[in-house]
Amino acid sequence: MSGGLDESSPSSGRASLSSLSDLKDLELSSESGCLSIVVLGASGDLAKKKTFPALFHLFEQGFLQSGEVHIFGYARSNISDDGLRERIRGYLKGASDEHVSEFLQLVTYVSGSYDNGEGFELLNNAISEHETSKNNKAGSSRRLFYLALPPSVYPSVCKMIRSYCMNPSSHAGWTRVIVEKPFGKDLDSAEELSAQLGQLFNEKQLYRIDHYLGKELVQNLLVLRFANRLFLPLWNRDNIDNVQIVFREDFGTEGRGGYFDQYGIIRDIIQNHLLQVFCLVAMEKPVSLKPEHIRDEKVKVLQSVIPIKHDEVVLGQYDGYKDDSTVPDDSNTPTFASLVLRVHNERWEGICYTYNIYYYLELCIFVTIISIHNYFHS
Ligand SMILES: NC(=O)c1ccc[n+]([C@@H]2O[C@H](COP(=O)([O-])OP(=O)(O)OC[C@H]3O[C@@H](n4cnc5c(N)ncnc54)[C@H](OP(=O)(O)O)[C@@H]3O)[C@@H](O)[C@H]2O)c1
Repeated sequence: MSGGLDESSPSSGRASLSSLSDLKDLELSSESGCLSIVVLGASGDLAKKKTFPALFHLFEQGFLQSGEVHIFGYARSNISDDGLRERIRGYLKGASDEHVSEFLQLVTYVSGSYDNGEGFELLNNAISEHETSKNNKAGSSRRLFYLALPPSVYPSVCKMIRSYCMNPSSHAGWTRVIVEKPFGKDLDSAEELSAQLGQLFNEKQLYRIDHYLGKELVQNLLVLRFANRLFLPLWNRDNIDNVQIVFREDFGTEGRGGYFDQYGIIRDIIQNHLLQVFCLVAMEKPVSLKPEHIRDEKVKVLQSVIPIKHDEVVLGQYDGYKDDSTVPDDSNTPTFASLVLRVHNERWEGICYTYNIYYYLELCIFVTIISIHNYFHS
């Protein structure tokens, strides 16, 4: 992104992005010091398919320096360092064996439970040992905890981190905790979880992430909308007829039905991933790229959404969903949903945003279709 900005002239479309992405606005500052990344739930599906591969990509791009960083896997399963490395090796694609092995040497494993101090003491000792081995300046250590775990254990794990594993200095360095979706199951449970985590960490230490926002196509939406003079004047009800946000998966729940069946397609996909896409497509230009400014615009557009009408929602379930042994025989959990959102504001009044979500179709794509008015239609 920044490479393109340097080349932009003040009069080009890119100039508006340049002002948006002013580094001062983003308050980016360089950091140094020993970095320990802890993947809790390292034995699980998310860790091997997404978290470790993402860390590997950062390593490949030079963002994780082998002289500074160490990655700790933590879970209850009794596996060795090499056992964990072999589990994740096959998911680290697109690089030489040598490079993969170099990365894997940065990964070790600590076994322990999620609600007992013993394992977390071991983890803290391992982190401290790493920090000492790198001659870390007192207090400058950075400790990042990534919870690749079911949300039911977030509160106890966070208590353990707070009690045993914080960066020991209050002057420099930091401790941060990343949690994945689902963040609760409904408003009450989300607020309860927020309150529990809020007692242990302040907002600057907590990162609730939606990995969908990391997808290149989704990230490009901001640039497409606000740094492109072709689209800027067209992006409104006068020129756009309707917007369709379509999500399709070419596989079913396949063993994850126990989790999915309690949540369903609306909680699993719509209220987080696709609502974020909707916000990026429909919101006004943020004052800057600061997270707070982007959030403010998202909140404004969400507040403009008219309550969804029952007769504009269609739900369904794919044939064979209940053949999954982890799904109850009498499940009526939806795996398909189609619904219409209407936005009551000057830009979008009268325009439909349609979501179509399918689990288990032949294609695996994510698209946002913007239908331009057909001015030649009689
Ligand atoms: N998988 C994905 O693609 C994906 C995508 C988006 C979000 N997520 C979310 O990310 C989190 C982790 O997902 P996942 O698919 O990796 O889950 P998972 O494989 O079921 O669980 C991760 C690890 O947590 C431990 N664990 C599982 N159930 C537990 C329980 N009831 N109590 C305590 N520990 C338990 C297990 O490790 P040990 O037994 O070794 O301790 C397991 O290896 C979930 O919140 C999920 O919704 C997953």
